[in-house]
Amino acid sequence: MEVVPLSSADEIASLAADTIEALVRSRPSAVLGLATGSSPVPTYAELVARHRAGTGPSYDGVRVFLLDEYVGLPPGHPQSYRATIARELTDDLGIAPDRVQGPDPTDVPTAGAAYEAQLRDAGGVDLQLLGVGADGHLAFNEPGSSLSSLTRLKTLTAETRRDNARFFGSVDDVPGHVLTQGLGTILRAGHLLLVATGAGKAAAVAAAVEGPLTASCPASVLQLHPHATVLLDPAAASLLDRTGHYREVYAAKPDWQGL
Ligand code: GLP
Repeated sequence: MEVVPLSSADEIASLAADTIEALVRSRPSAVLGLATGSSPVPTYAELVARHRAGTGPSYDGVRVFLLDEYVGLPPGHPQSYRATIARELTDDLGIAPDRVQGPDPTDVPTAGAAYEAQLRDAGGVDLQLLGVGADGHLAFNEPGSSLSSLTRLKTLTAETRRDNARFFGSVDDVPGHVLTQGLGTILRAGHLLLVATGAGKAAAVAAAVEGPLTASCPASVLQLHPHATVLLDPAAASLLDRTGHYREVYAAKPDWQGL
């Protein structure tokens, strides 16, 4: 795992956008795995700004797979992850709605297997952008999730529902159920790029990066992946023990290597 302590959320957004653009330039038919939540928002804003400025690549051939989706929201609800990603990124990049897939909350019993098949048929995700929950959840894999789980129905913890209440009117409006890629699904992506900012993420980041591999911290599954990158602002990195070493490694990184 490569841990990159950076100076600000803006620096994270810039480096994450560089990485996504480099992939799309080298592989115009890239399959992007995208996360929702607030962590990737600055990265999406940066990608959109570059696209509008005409400096970004064409996204015409790109396909997008979402990590997860709420169950029980009316179709088109603005807080559904499908609507969120269209508003925050894909519409502005010119990625057609039929090139954006997510787990189908209208047919929950079959949604998991169907989504796994769609991912397989697309050839798998090249780059998966990730955030992390304050309780260490990855996508909507809450603590206790099997490290080899596949896309399925999950129940949110009270903490996650409280955390996500800011996107809804109240905590009671946050759905209790979700469909989420499993940890085993996420591990199949070619490159995992996790972004985390703020002190609220510091404990989860430390547990994921320097703690034991455990279902009690689902994000620790990154330790199993051959190509995982973690971009952190100072607050999110504040509980790590080996920050000095991570900085040295990044400073000494060969130019040809990229993230
Ligand atoms: C959400 C999402 C995750 C996200 C995490 C952190 O509920 N399902 O994909 O990474 O929780 O959210 P945020 O980035 O808003 O802190």
